[in-house]
Amino acid sequence: MQIFRDISSLQLSLNELKLERKTIGLVPTMGALHDGHAALLKASLAENDVTVCSIFVNPTQFNNDEDLKNYPRTYEEDIEFLKSFECDIVFNPSAEEMYPKSPSLKFNFADLEQSMEGSYRPGHFNGVAIVVSKLFNIVNPDRAYFGQKDLQQYRIISQLVEDLSYNIELRQIPIKRDENGLALSSRNKRLSTSGLKSARK
Ligand code: PAF
Repeated sequence: MQIFRDISSLQLSLNELKLERKTIGLVPTMGALHDGHAALLKASLAENDVTVCSIFVNPTQFNNDEDLKNYPRTYEEDIEFLKSFECDIVFNPSAEEMYPKSPSLKFNFADLEQSMEGSYRPGHFNGVAIVVSKLFNIVNPDRAYFGQKDLQQYRIISQLVEDLSYNIELRQIPIKRDENGLALSSRNKRLSTSGLKSARK
């Protein structure tokens, strides 16, 4: 498994694979990997010659600094996890590599971002759309994999692909749940015992 931290060396390697006509699957993540991510990885590994998993805790999608600071980071375990699935390539850039300057681009997804999660997290989907477009431009995958758990995110990314004519097949992978029926999420690591109990209700 190869690990890249900078965009240019990742692209050099991907360009060679594309010359060999290999198909590329992209699994974008923010790390703290769990069985939900495993389902995305397995789908990508089955459907493409090469799978790229990105691990990047994207600062532009956090509307709260404390939330960004406390987001679970389990890099060493994530790498072992990805090796166990024989993932081909990991892209783990720094925030400076992804954002040499703070981006000024603003997406507007109108009604799509004004309800549900969007109404509680102003600017969140703008940050998601920025990082996902950057990852699409950097990797230029044939297919990209997202979880059904993030329904609104998936709908917004579908709109992004349509509006910007990305030639990428989006794949939505069914939710994975724990033994109590709670959807697996990296953020569950931050729930208190009582929070976990009420989330499982
Ligand atoms: O769903 C996530 O983990 C993130 O929102 C994503 C798509 C990796 C973008 O940072």
